[in-house]
Amino acid sequence: MSCKHRLIRGRVDKGLLDKFGAGFEFNMQDPKDYSSISPSAKSLLLMKGYTNIPYAQQTAALMQGPEIFDLNFDEKDFWFWIRVMHFESRYWSIDQLLQQTDIKNILELSSGYSLRGLDLCAKDQTIHYIDTDLPEVIADKQQMIDHLGLNKEMLQGKLELQPLNALDEDAFNAVVSRFDGPVNIVNEGLLMYLNMEEKVRLCQTIHNVLKQRGGCWITADIYVKRSTEMRAELPQSKSEAAFMEQHNVEENKFDGYEAAAEFFNAQGFEVVKEAVPDNEKLSVLPQVLKVLPEEWRNSKEPPPKIQATWMLKAV
Ligand SMILES: C[S@@+](CC[C@H](N)C(=O)[O-])C[C@H]1O[C@@H](n2cnc3c(N)ncnc32)[C@H](O)[C@@H]1O
Repeated sequence: MSCKHRLIRGRVDKGLLDKFGAGFEFNMQDPKDYSSISPSAKSLLLMKGYTNIPYAQQTAALMQGPEIFDLNFDEKDFWFWIRVMHFESRYWSIDQLLQQTDIKNILELSSGYSLRGLDLCAKDQTIHYIDTDLPEVIADKQQMIDHLGLNKEMLQGKLELQPLNALDEDAFNAVVSRFDGPVNIVNEGLLMYLNMEEKVRLCQTIHNVLKQRGGCWITADIYVKRSTEMRAELPQSKSEAAFMEQHNVEENKFDGYEAAAEFFNAQGFEVVKEAVPDNEKLSVLPQVLKVLPEEWRNSKEPPPKIQATWMLKAV
């Protein structure tokens, strides 16, 4: 059943439930407004605008209006650059694992303002990329692409932008049916906004697709809960803290990497690869080094690992 149908049924008067009897499907819960998560994509793009991620600078320059995390772009301190570095590294981690498969169909979920699909299609005529997010984000992104003149003529592969609520299984399957053959599904920055029930539902949908068609799921969303000390150390504006709290981001993270693997195993997936971060190659590294505090410079300890990118196969 699509979310739209669920929503319509959710509005049905309780009296009708009695009238139609026990067989009537009814969802009393308010449907979640996923679009409340979308402003985070803008904050990410503004940070990525300081990297060499394809098209990030041009698209970030088009962004107007307030930004939900209240990022301080005037005083770019160590913590600012560390975050930019994290998101740059996360972006490349997906490309790194994609390069290790030979599947040319790629579905990106919750892509935000990222133009990975456009970049891959500009370089490779064998790629069929479907770039998806919620309708408003996709409409904005299409406008940006048009505005920047990044049009079809420059593409060698096939790029499609499609609105998709990833939790809507029927819509998900309809998008997947646009591909011929196996498909790689990729995403970054979604699972930490989903509760356990939603994560399980998404896993089921993806598992069915991969079982039927072949391919793999590359997700950069293996975030583990941070210690209280780590949470206290990372400066956060009030608005960002409120946004994270509103969306239960810390609770939605995994208890640890083992717990994450157990979770995916229970959903019928096997972890087949993990991306290996290569900080030396990051465009933002010189900025980080300039502001690196002395104690970090002299530390023999590697920085704490807060996230991993995994390639999952349906077994
Ligand atoms: C943190 S942003 C990440 C954007 C992008 N992947 C990146 O890393 O820059 C989260 C994205 O998830 C999208 N989103 C939230 N709920 C969604 C859903 N149910 N289905 C599809 N996309 C969703 C939002 O619109 C937003 O673009």
